[in-house]
Amino acid sequence: GFSWKLNDHPKLPKGKIISVVVLDGWGEANPDEYNCIHVAQTPTMDSLKNGAPEKWRLVKAHGTAVGLPTEDDMGNSEVGHNALGAGRIYAQGAKLVDLALASGKIYEGEGFTYIKDSFATGTLHLIGLLSDGGVHSRLDQLQLLLRGASERGAKRIRVHVLTDGRDVLDGSSVGFVESLENDLAKLREKGIDAQIASGGGRMHVTMDRYENDWGVVKRGWDAQVLGEAPHKFKSAVDAVKKLREDPKANDQYLPAFVIIDDSGKAVGPIVDGDAVVTFNFRADRMTMLAKALEYEDFDIFDRVRFPKIRYAGMLQYDGELKLPSHYLVSPPEIERTSGEYLVHNGVRTFACSETVKFGHVTFFWNGNRSGYFNQEMEEYVEIPSDSGITFNVQPKMKALEIAEKARDAILSRKFHQVRVNLPNGDMVGHTGDIGATIVACKAADEAVKMILDAIEQVGGIYVVTADHGNAEDMVKRNKKGEPLLDKSGKIQILTSHTLQPVPIAIGGPGLAPGVRFRKDVPGGGLANVAATVMNLHGFEAPSDYETTLIEVVDN
Ligand code: 3PG
Ligand code: CO
Repeated sequence: GFSWKLNDHPKLPKGKIISVVVLDGWGEANPDEYNCIHVAQTPTMDSLKNGAPEKWRLVKAHGTAVGLPTEDDMGNSEVGHNALGAGRIYAQGAKLVDLALASGKIYEGEGFTYIKDSFATGTLHLIGLLSDGGVHSRLDQLQLLLRGASERGAKRIRVHVLTDGRDVLDGSSVGFVESLENDLAKLREKGIDAQIASGGGRMHVTMDRYENDWGVVKRGWDAQVLGEAPHKFKSAVDAVKKLREDPKANDQYLPAFVIIDDSGKAVGPIVDGDAVVTFNFRADRMTMLAKALEYEDFDIFDRVRFPKIRYAGMLQYDGELKLPSHYLVSPPEIERTSGEYLVHNGVRTFACSETVKFGHVTFFWNGNRSGYFNQEMEEYVEIPSDSGITFNVQPKMKALEIAEKARDAILSRKFHQVRVNLPNGDMVGHTGDIGATIVACKAADEAVKMILDAIEQVGGIYVVTADHGNAEDMVKRNKKGEPLLDKSGKIQILTSHTLQPVPIAIGGPGLAPGVRFRKDVPGGGLANVAATVMNLHGFEAPSDYETTLIEVVDN
């Protein structure tokens, strides 16, 4: 029968204090002026890289190595932390939705059957991120869903778009809205009343995460549900073009707008009897809206109206909360994660980050599951992020505070695993501000130093890695790798993640002599890290985990 008990590692001892440090958005790329990690002063990470060659290597963090559909899919924090924590590669949301759409199974499932009951008399609303970034959603999936729903009885459709500019180039929102408008025009030719109803930039409207700023969700609610927003337009293409004319405007932060008809009335508020689908497959930035749409009892902001709707998520976003209760595609069944095994085997765990990445080292790490496995064995600490700013203004973010918490947890000797996420490279990289990203990388490096110093003091072990690339390449490139210029001759800033591999380094006074990276897992990826960490805690990994990256040789 199944047992949580892990076998002892034949050579490695138990009881070591291990710090697992995840540098968010920290990939390895050619050293040039657009590689902020290279440009920044990062003596600690440099010393790991230039130290013993058998204790530093690169691992894959994108594409099929983390369960994404293709090798052209850049890595992201959800799939990266899932792989790090679960030790296996799961077909992820992007892929599962592709499969369900291709086979048509999406239309046979419980979720679609549930919302379909509203099609005869109500409107179908689709809310989500409009781009082909493939991190939270994809335009082609929305297009297939629009077609599939209209062929199955949806007669009135309203799309509530969130512009991207974070997983794709800034400015690309106009093109995405134009393509969607084309699709909707074709549906109208077929007699379906289909229109864009509202919009706004993803970081300003709806897509907050980990309850950093409910105001973001409220702005979305007002536009999507109530049909109220500071800006009103007759066409969504005009809306995006006009709002972008402000020199400070960008896709990520466009203000909320609603589309109005000739009489000035919003064309698509959500009302009793309607169906709603949030078409993002990724959880973190949809969970808050899902709560507002689903929970009868909700007092975080005044919803003014709480329409009686049939609501389904593209996926179920939270397996523990069962949120939302209806969904079109079943999420990956990520179970028996390393965190759960370790608490069953006596490993006391501390996890910490600041709000914007807190769920990455807890929720994502634990397989999209909120809460503790065993509160007596675990402590999760969230440091409040600055809210209402873009992080290029505060590129150091809370790196120092996170490192101090980790240091204190290490020095307390109360925990065997002290796990943190340092957000700087990623969150500042997403702003596209190269100068600020250089400051960010330095701050993350200083935080690593503080943690490694604490590990040194307690005779512990460190594992320093990253979840995907971002700060190491800030420019869009052609196939030859040369920077691309826009019409005015300026470089095109890359705000998104990358396809680059990430480093992993092991060391510390507690690392048994003879431990080194194996040479026979050259294609190793993030999913190999869980078994590696389990070994360092003194255990063999379960047999279905991706293989460990380390071996112990006799000296
Ligand atoms: C975001 O949600 O901020 C980006 O789309 C992806 O960033 P993350 O995967 O690093 O969180
Ligand atoms: Co990111």
